[in-house]
Amino acid sequence: MQPAAPSEIPFSIEPSVRRARLWGYFVRYKGLFFAGAVFLFLTNMLALAIPAYLGQAIQLMRDAAGASGEGFSAVRSQVVHAAVVIIFLAIASGFCRIFSRTTIFNAGRHIEFDIRNEVYARLAKLDPRFYARMSTGDVTSRVTNDVTYVRLLYAIAFLHIINAAIAYTIAIQKMVALDWALTLWCLASYPLLLLGVRYVIRALFNQTKVVQAQLSAMSTRVQENLAGVNVVKSYVLEGREIAGFARANEDYYHKNMVLARIRGMLDSLVVMMATVGTLVVLLIGSRKVIENTMTLGQFVEFNAYVVAIAFPTIAMGWVFSVWHRGLAGFERVCEILYHEPDIKQADDARTLPPIDGELARGHVRFENVQFGYTDKRVLHDINIDIPAGSTVAFVGRTGSGKSTLVKLIARFYDPNEGQITIDGVPLPKLALRETRSQIGFVPQEPFLFSMTIGQNVRFGLDALEFDDSVAREAPTRALLPGGEPDDGRPLTQDERIVQAITVAGLGLDIDSFPQGLETLVGERGVTLSGGQKQRVTIARALLVDPRILILDDALSSVDTQTESIILDHLDHLMKGRTSILLTHRFNALARVDCIYVLDEGRVVESGTHWDLIEQGGVYAAMLERQKLREQLES
Ligand SMILES: Nc1ncnc2c1ncn2[C@@H]1O[C@H](COP(=O)(O)OP(=O)(O)OP(=O)(O)O)[C@@H](O)[C@H]1O
Ligand SMILES: [Mg+2]
Repeated sequence: MQPAAPSEIPFSIEPSVRRARLWGYFVRYKGLFFAGAVFLFLTNMLALAIPAYLGQAIQLMRDAAGASGEGFSAVRSQVVHAAVVIIFLAIASGFCRIFSRTTIFNAGRHIEFDIRNEVYARLAKLDPRFYARMSTGDVTSRVTNDVTYVRLLYAIAFLHIINAAIAYTIAIQKMVALDWALTLWCLASYPLLLLGVRYVIRALFNQTKVVQAQLSAMSTRVQENLAGVNVVKSYVLEGREIAGFARANEDYYHKNMVLARIRGMLDSLVVMMATVGTLVVLLIGSRKVIENTMTLGQFVEFNAYVVAIAFPTIAMGWVFSVWHRGLAGFERVCEILYHEPDIKQADDARTLPPIDGELARGHVRFENVQFGYTDKRVLHDINIDIPAGSTVAFVGRTGSGKSTLVKLIARFYDPNEGQITIDGVPLPKLALRETRSQIGFVPQEPFLFSMTIGQNVRFGLDALEFDDSVAREAPTRALLPGGEPDDGRPLTQDERIVQAITVAGLGLDIDSFPQGLETLVGERGVTLSGGQKQRVTIARALLVDPRILILDDALSSVDTQTESIILDHLDHLMKGRTSILLTHRFNALARVDCIYVLDEGRVVESGTHWDLIEQGGVYAAMLERQKLREQLES
């Protein structure tokens, strides 16, 4: 496998829009942030009251040097008193510090939770075109790492910025009160250093994005290798894959090292800012003490303030990197959050006419449909009328456009030109979820979730039962002839699941599993055979009682006898509804009402099996070839 191509998301979101959204989350939890800020204020008020007591105690001791008797004990008790106050202040400020952190981190967690839900909700709405552009690893990395970086942006950045602002305000005020000139000296180097910090930060931001993209590429690689582990093993490519991963990892390491160097530079700049103050106090302050323009107590107190603001200053270095990682992460998260689905529902969307009585439903019409995934057309001039209640089949060479055609019916994509109607209503005028819930789509590649077989089968029902935005009720119709309960009560969904399984020809297989329907199928259904997987997905589609059933080569892994039995069941079940079969096998085709032969995206022939044989065209030739092949193989 080649290293994953970077995602091409063809748009960027205005920084102002992103800023507004970030601000929105902040406002949503303003109560918690405010409480956190109050605790930070208390923390600093209490902690910065300590230096005065410390200075006082030192000065008392200095003044009392050599004292004895009463003088000694008086000074001693004053010093002890100062020590008790200092301990009390330290403990109280410690508690406030804990509260400030828990409140602010809590707000960060809430925001992370909200963003993750919003991203997931958007991902569920996005359509195949989006997923063709953004790899799963990239999406995963954005939902996990990048959202976490956004949380840190709120938690760490807010905490330390507010903390530094409060600490500076209080400490500088006290320092100025002690000696304004010394204060100015201490802070003089800051503007110059800040200028340096700005340059380093720009480099940090760019490199952070590079590292985050590389991490996404690696996640994609791991994810693909795990999903395709059998392919890798069967082609004995473990060695190459391991070496490839090691290269990507090494690349990641080097990119991270560059980032670490930039961060290191930033940290040193910030530490310089913090220590320059102490140096200035020593150089200039000590002279003042010797010259007697400053007492020793004041010197100690002043120095304690300088030390106290050193930590908030150093923490700012961390804030800068968290800030930029968070912003870069949020930009990547926004590329999902603001991605508009291609398939949209009209504001005045309507539902399909209900199925009642004997009236057949599921009339599908293609009118002059043209379609291409890209600029290249895949379907040309499709004009098909599939009457309600009929069974039709699409055949044609691989790549002729069969799957594409039925994906348009389920509205995974919209045609570039022309329109498709179901029961007389053009697809864009129909409520999307309602419409899809009326289509039983069994895709060419069966997909099972790592749940039990029963849960996999009832998957489509969950929307009808629990989602209020889907107006259609969960159906109660029996799936087998005479399947209704004798006492006239409606069928339970569990009973319907058993019937769906029988219709899909899976009954015997389920009986052979140790836990029947409760059997877990492993990730993507790895513990089932190909044919079993296909039939679970058929049962899933049948359970929602669709008016249009689409089987995209869904019986390809089933033997011809089982195929016949399933199709017999379906004939009964789909009476008055439409069935569309896509197949490479000709066994089932004698029974369908109309066969469409596709070639390079065009319908080149249509008619019944016998009509087409008589025509002696493409279909007849394909049938001959298949017969010949079967003879050769037998
Ligand atoms: N997601 C996609 N993006 C771009 N091109 C696609 C995509 N899916 C299919 N195609 C292209 O569209 C054409 C028709 O593909 P389609 O899957 O409809 O063929 P098919 O008739 O179902 O083939 P098969 O019998 O092998 O299932 C092919 O040329 C294919 O390469
Ligand atoms: Mg196909």
